[in-house]
Amino acid sequence: MQEHEEHPTQNAQSGSQDAQHTQQHAQDAQHAQPADETQPIRHEHKVLSFVRRSGRLDARLQRAWDTYADTYLLPLNAAEGSLDIRDDWRLTREWIHDTWSNAHPLVIEIGTGQGENIVAAAAQHPQTNYLALEVYDPGVAHTMLRAGKQHLNNLRIAQINAPELFAKADAATVDEVWTFFPDPWPKMKHHKRRIVQPALAEAIHRALIAGGLWRIATDIEDYALHVHEVMDGRDDFENIGEITVSLPTGHVGKGNADLALDMPHANFAESSRFEGRVLTNFEKKGLEAGRVIHDFTYRSR
Ligand SMILES: C[S@@+](CC[C@H](N)C(=O)[O-])C[C@H]1O[C@@H](n2cnc3c(N)ncnc32)[C@H](O)[C@@H]1O
Repeated sequence: MQEHEEHPTQNAQSGSQDAQHTQQHAQDAQHAQPADETQPIRHEHKVLSFVRRSGRLDARLQRAWDTYADTYLLPLNAAEGSLDIRDDWRLTREWIHDTWSNAHPLVIEIGTGQGENIVAAAAQHPQTNYLALEVYDPGVAHTMLRAGKQHLNNLRIAQINAPELFAKADAATVDEVWTFFPDPWPKMKHHKRRIVQPALAEAIHRALIAGGLWRIATDIEDYALHVHEVMDGRDDFENIGEITVSLPTGHVGKGNADLALDMPHANFAESSRFEGRVLTNFEKKGLEAGRVIHDFTYRSR
């Protein structure tokens, strides 16, 4: 399906039931890869990790949206169609208590896709609060549908640009952060759009409790190197991976990944598969394509 790149104000994304005419295509959010990576894509001069797309939800997802948005979708957006967060909002302990009516630990997943992971985790751990962050309407709708079918009350969803949320988080409010299979942005010139970046690491570190974890997984070897480069040298996080993985030490872009075979390699610490991660369609396709899954666990110091 054709994907469109648009200025956010030209085709706003719906954050509410009554804005259904602005909703995006019912595309598979798990495969949210830019169709045309040749265009610079900016949003209020920010480099974004996703591309805005226009369209509508199909009837089933629209019904899910209409049925469950009041229960699961948090009204944090700065304006209808904006993926920014309201200026007056902050992630505080009081807000967590008001939202979940308890003081249970909070796990936040960045880029939940269709919600397979976070919904499974929420069902399995009713004494933990879960917050799903996803920008694409179909992913948000799928997640609400899954949660609604299981009558989950420990899960909420925010349709916002994830780094914005962490920029507004009080210190020591979050127990774990998950980023599983982030959009790979394979072209060299787009590596800066990868969501794992020093500024996000800094904001996540502030939000995490002492000893809190940032779990990351990717099936893209070059992204694995990128994660090590961003995270391993930091004073505020410790890589607690217990297995050794050999990776090329130079970056390669889309279409020339084979070049990595001949590059010098070095050993890096990674984790064995996080048992709290279910096998999503996205991971399955990576495995079927012969790719190796890289798991990372960074503990906040
Ligand atoms: C490749 S998919 C992986 C989905 C899911 N984690 C999985 O493993 O199946 C990456 C997801 O991240 C979402 N995403 C990308 N940038 C984001 C951002 N800045 N804020 C929130 N979600 C984002 C995309 O919409 C997409 O659904």
